[in-house]
Amino acid sequence: MSTSPFKNDILKGQVALITGGGTGINFGVGLVLGGHGAKLAITGRRPNVLEEACQKFKAQGIEAVGFQGDVRDAKSCEKVIESVLKHFGRVDLLVNGAAGNFLCAAEDLSSNAFQTVIGIDLLGTFNMSKAAFNALRDSKGSIINISATLHYGATIYQTHASAAKAGVDSVTRSLAIEWGKYGIRVNGIAPGPIADTEGMKRLGAGIGEEVVAGKIPLQRFGTTQEIGFAALFLASKVASGYISGDTIVVDGASWLSRESFVTPEIYQHIAEGRKQEQSSKPAKQSAKL
Ligand SMILES: NC(=O)c1ccc[n+]([C@@H]2O[C@H](COP(=O)([O-])OP(=O)(O)OC[C@H]3O[C@@H](n4cnc5c(N)ncnc54)[C@H](O)[C@@H]3O)[C@@H](O)[C@H]2O)c1
Repeated sequence: MSTSPFKNDILKGQVALITGGGTGINFGVGLVLGGHGAKLAITGRRPNVLEEACQKFKAQGIEAVGFQGDVRDAKSCEKVIESVLKHFGRVDLLVNGAAGNFLCAAEDLSSNAFQTVIGIDLLGTFNMSKAAFNALRDSKGSIINISATLHYGATIYQTHASAAKAGVDSVTRSLAIEWGKYGIRVNGIAPGPIADTEGMKRLGAGIGEEVVAGKIPLQRFGTTQEIGFAALFLASKVASGYISGDTIVVDGASWLSRESFVTPEIYQHIAEGRKQEQSSKPAKQSAKL
């Protein structure tokens, strides 16, 4: 991990539950939260993935435990929360990171496939938040929903995930206003393209960073650690205690940047023409009184 600007014990005594925490961005979030003192519980459907991830966390000195669960199933979420409470006695932070996505043209997208993605991303976020409600009310904890920027404009071949993440952002805002009175903060993080993740492998269509980077204002992919630090900021009551209902975009300004008709070459041409025009004008006479 790059040297952290935060003290390494700011989450000491806190327990974070991360859905889909065995892989990718969510695993990276776990490394940063755990690296700052949080104990981790991760959940997902594949026990071997959870086991492997916990070994990696432990190798970094992070206490971590995996509980198998499917966020689409409300009962399964309740069981996971029960297990976390039994194991650690509390839940201070819930990170809803579980998601499914793939490229598919809308005309080829089956109803079932659409429903599956809505089930994992949107219903899963609600199910786990609801299951964790009592524990979070007790700890005056918070929720971080991992969203995306797909739906800020619209994203071709991702009707399903765009709709799901739009719903996730809506849940973030609704829960923030309903659960604020219990001291529960609810926020989101919308990552842009993040290197070395399943998401980029599947959705980047094999196009490398060197090709895509030019279209990103900060000229590179983000890292899972950068999403982790955004999560750490939102997890810290001292740093972000008055932030709730917000979704922080961590995308190198990607979604703001649209392909323009005016390319850098065209702009250069215009700017040079302007310079020439100005240099050919006679110097301004000083104004006479
Ligand atoms: N990778 C990116 O560039 C990117 C960009 C924007 C948003 N995101 C979001 O970041 C998060 C992580 O994405 P990632 O690219 O690291 O992918 P990932 O596939 O590594 O993460 C998704 C996780 O969810 C788990 N999961 C899937 N279905 C589940 C279910 N029914 N119950 C429990 N767990 C389940 C998977 O096992 C996996 O661990 C997702 O919410 C994704 O939408 C990623």
